[in-house]
Amino acid sequence: MASVVQVSHPLVRHHLTRLRDQKTSAAGFRNGLQRLSSLLAYVATQDLDVREIEVDTPLTTTTGAEVKSVIALVPILRAGLGMVDPILDLIPDAEVWHLGIYRDEATALPVQYYCKIPPSGPVDVAMVLDPMLATGGSAIAAIETLQDWGVPKIKLLSVIAASAGVEAVTAQFPDLQLFVCAIDPDLNTRKFIVPGLGDAGDRAFNTHRAHE
Ligand code: PRP
Repeated sequence: MASVVQVSHPLVRHHLTRLRDQKTSAAGFRNGLQRLSSLLAYVATQDLDVREIEVDTPLTTTTGAEVKSVIALVPILRAGLGMVDPILDLIPDAEVWHLGIYRDEATALPVQYYCKIPPSGPVDVAMVLDPMLATGGSAIAAIETLQDWGVPKIKLLSVIAASAGVEAVTAQFPDLQLFVCAIDPDLNTRKFIVPGLGDAGDRAFNTHRAHE
C-alpha cells in the first residue's frame, strides 16, 4: 500500500501559512517554498541506503557513511523548479531530470510538453517535486514516465495536496511514497485546491497577469 506522510512540524506549519497568505510577495513565496522543500526532503530521505566508509579525521580513522543510491530530482515545470535548489543543497550528487507538464485550463487534464528523461539506465530513487497535488493528474503522468524509465523507488514531494489528489495517486501507485505538508479538503469548480495557496507557479514567478 502507498504510504502518505504529512509533515506537521511547527516550522512547516509556520512557513506554509506564509505561503497560503495572498499578501506574501513572489520573493517571499519562493523563500518559503525553499524552506518547506528542505523540511520535506529531510523526512523523505530518512530511508536512503548508505554504505559505511572509513574516513581520516585530523586525529584518527573512523567509520562514517555515504549515500549509496543514485538519486534523481524530477521537478514538474514550472512550479517544481522552486524545490530543486534547496534539495540539491542536501543531495549535491543528485541528478536533475526535468518534466514539463501543465494542466489544461479547460479540462484540468495534464499536458506533457517536455521530457528530459533518458531511454535507459534508471536511477535507484526518483523524487518528484511539485508544490501542488490537486486532481493528481500531473503527478500521475510524471510517475508513469518514471515507471516506464524503470525507476524502482518513487517519492512524490508536494507542499500542499487535495485529498482527492492523494486518493488518486495512492490508488494508482501502491508502492508510492508521498510526502506533504498539508492535505486540504476541497477542489473548487476550476480544480484549484481549497483553501490552498492559489497557483504555485504563478505566485513563485509573479505571472498572475496570465490569468487576467
Ligand atoms: C499546477 C501544479 C501542478 C498541477 C497540479 O501546475 O504546479 O503541476 O497544476 O494539478 P493536478 O494535480 O490537477 O494535475 P500548472 O498546470 O498550473 O502549471 P505551471 O506550474 O506551469 O503553472
